[in-house]
Amino acid sequence: MLLLTIFAVTVIIPVEPVGERAFQACKNYGQTMLECHNILYPTAKVRVPIDFLLYPHMVLIGVRNSQTDQPEWQCGGTLISDQWVLTAAHCSVSLGRGSIMRVGTATFEFDEVDELAQERDIAEVISHPKFKPPSKYHDIALMRADPPFILTRDIRIACLQTNTNVDYKNLTVIGFGVTKSEALFGSQTLMKVDVDVIDSAVCNKSMASLIRRKILAVGITEDQLCAGDYEHGGRDACQGDSGGPLQIMEDRVDCLKTFPLHTVVGVTSFGKYCGRKMAPGVYIRVSRYIDWIENIVWPKK
Ligand SMILES: *[C@@H]1O[C@H](CO)[C@@H](O)[C@H](O)[C@H]1NC(C)=O
Ligand SMILES: *[C@@H]1O[C@H](CO)[C@@H](O)[C@H](O)[C@H]1NC(C)=O
Repeated sequence: MLLLTIFAVTVIIPVEPVGERAFQACKNYGQTMLECHNILYPTAKVRVPIDFLLYPHMVLIGVRNSQTDQPEWQCGGTLISDQWVLTAAHCSVSLGRGSIMRVGTATFEFDEVDELAQERDIAEVISHPKFKPPSKYHDIALMRADPPFILTRDIRIACLQTNTNVDYKNLTVIGFGVTKSEALFGSQTLMKVDVDVIDSAVCNKSMASLIRRKILAVGITEDQLCAGDYEHGGRDACQGDSGGPLQIMEDRVDCLKTFPLHTVVGVTSFGKYCGRKMAPGVYIRVSRYIDWIENIVWPKK
């Protein structure tokens, strides 16, 4: 009888699919937004102010200069919960004392937007355990803000792309990185580039020297994604854009399955030359790391 009971209990426990916690987190947050209120409750419409920031999940990661106390920005990142930022693992190498993250910045050119910005200490850095530089594989990390960021109309999380089999169109990469390979300073304004996904086999062909040097020992893998403008060049991420998001925004949201939030598809990992012809940017494919991310950001209770 006892055995029977245990058996019955074991059978009923539902197995939570990978990605479920990431999706629920996105849904719980997305449905609190005014935009969703109007879609879910059309009879009780509220006025929705025009968004101030187009990329409200964009994070800057850097270190305070010990002499001037001014932050020096080194990498980008994506806010995926009020305290966790998704970025590239190689971005953690140069961090140390005085490492900070900042959200709510579209430009440094006008002081008045400063009041939107929030800066936090980096309390914890978790690089993917398989990241072994100089190898470029598993170049993904999570950084925890302390205290958590305060989510507002202009500071929002991005959803995670949990589905691996998606036909990506209209991907956008953003960053404050340098806009030319020779430039010494990062851009003062957040830059956006639309890129196309490049077939992995084609992309692999341009990686011969990295493959030979064992930096990319087995070439481009399923854990990575290449994007850029292979035909013309000129559209690519650059140094300083590292760790930042490659994302997609749905044209239409229903607030049950999709939300008025960006979905992060890739983490900017590296590019050979910024925007040069035949030199695509390489991104870590977020959908391959959902299990790892969920267990850190939304641990099982
Ligand atoms: C991609 O963007 C272009 C220009 O913004 C637009 O014409 C096209 O319909 C978009 N395609 C998809 C699949 O969203
Ligand atoms: C990439 O190229 C390397 C070396 O030429 C090869 O071993 C590997 O199988 C290729 N991978 C893909 C995805 O084409």
